[in-house]
Amino acid sequence: MAVRTSGAAHTDASVLRRCDGSELFGVDPDDLPDGLVVADETGRVICFNAAAAKITAVSKAEALGAPLERALPLEDLKGRRWWRLTDPYGGIATRVGQPERNLLLPGGREVLVSARYVRERPTGPIRRLVVSLRGTEARRRTERSHAELIATVAHELRSPLTSVQGFTATLLAKWERFTDDQKRLMLETVDADAHRVTRLIAELLDISRIDSGRLEVRRQLVDIAAAVGRHIQAHMAGGQSPDRFLVRIQQPLPDLWADPDKIDQVLGNLLENAVRHGEGTVTIEVAPASAHDEQKGTAVTVSDEGPGIPEESMGRVFTRFWRGSKRGGTGLGLYIVKGIVEAHGGTIAVGRGPGGGAQFRFILPVGAPAYLS
Ligand SMILES: Nc1ncnc2c1ncn2[C@@H]1O[C@H](COP(=O)(O)OP(=O)(O)OP(=O)(O)O)[C@@H](O)[C@H]1O
Ligand SMILES: [Mg+2]
Repeated sequence: MAVRTSGAAHTDASVLRRCDGSELFGVDPDDLPDGLVVADETGRVICFNAAAAKITAVSKAEALGAPLERALPLEDLKGRRWWRLTDPYGGIATRVGQPERNLLLPGGREVLVSARYVRERPTGPIRRLVVSLRGTEARRRTERSHAELIATVAHELRSPLTSVQGFTATLLAKWERFTDDQKRLMLETVDADAHRVTRLIAELLDISRIDSGRLEVRRQLVDIAAAVGRHIQAHMAGGQSPDRFLVRIQQPLPDLWADPDKIDQVLGNLLENAVRHGEGTVTIEVAPASAHDEQKGTAVTVSDEGPGIPEESMGRVFTRFWRGSKRGGTGLGLYIVKGIVEAHGGTIAVGRGPGGGAQFRFILPVGAPAYLS
């Protein structure tokens, strides 16, 4: 449905009309989220809405009645005056508008512009020129964050792969010259680096699922106390002393319908962080979410006695690639933890534990079996 603006020359259009001329409803152009600029048949501005004023930093009073070139002095990326270049009033009479493109405002600010030429009749003179403007900040921000993601991923993949390549090349070239112990050491490094790459790729796949909202949660009845026990067993098998861990389970716990593999990932990441980045005893508490927690469910708290997260960084721990110290991994763990907890309808927060270290607390709602949801 084409919508035209009405309004006499040099006044602001304030009513949108249907193609047949009937009034659609009293839409105020200032209510539109995008910038709207309308010029009449002589090229003078007759509508300049609030968003246009905000994007261009030209006031409505200055713009109304001014020639389009002055109210909206756009240039293309090569610095050519846009309205001269496109010449809507004098150019080819079959042209119906301009597709969206990136143009510059004075001062070099970018803006996305598209235009529509409303003609008397198909090849007749222009009756109105309708221009829409959109700020580029939001789009730029996502583009930048994608570019950063690619740069970081490339960097993270490069160092283990360089080591794999280096060691395999050395081994192949000088196999006879190394002792068995030397060869074993090199192969162990290759193995560890290959694992790092595999883990990084698995994390990136999780991130892409989280970011696109495609993280699947297959709910089953989960025994979270047993899961905590399994993780601690694994850490002890890996050489941690048993008195590094303290587990408190407050029975009876409400049912928990959740994705067991994903809950394992959450517990695994939080415990690994507490052991790797924290110090002292790692306390894991599992309890029914208490009355002042927002939702009914299970609350899990993991705290340690290490240096903790500095106050000023607490807002950033759940972002991608943030790591506080040299001992950090890729900085994706907590981003994934938060994504998984939220995909379950839960919440997670970071704070300072009673022992001074970091404290992570997440709450999972009871949920419902997969066949009921
Ligand atoms: N228990 C903790 N004590 C102190 N600092 C922590 C703790 N947990 C996390 N951090 C800090 O937060 C950062 C981000 O943690 P996150 O789990 O996201 O990444 P990572 O552990 O560095 O790498 P990954 O988990 O991807 O291997 C860590 O690098 C660390 O500096
Ligand atoms: Mg981690």
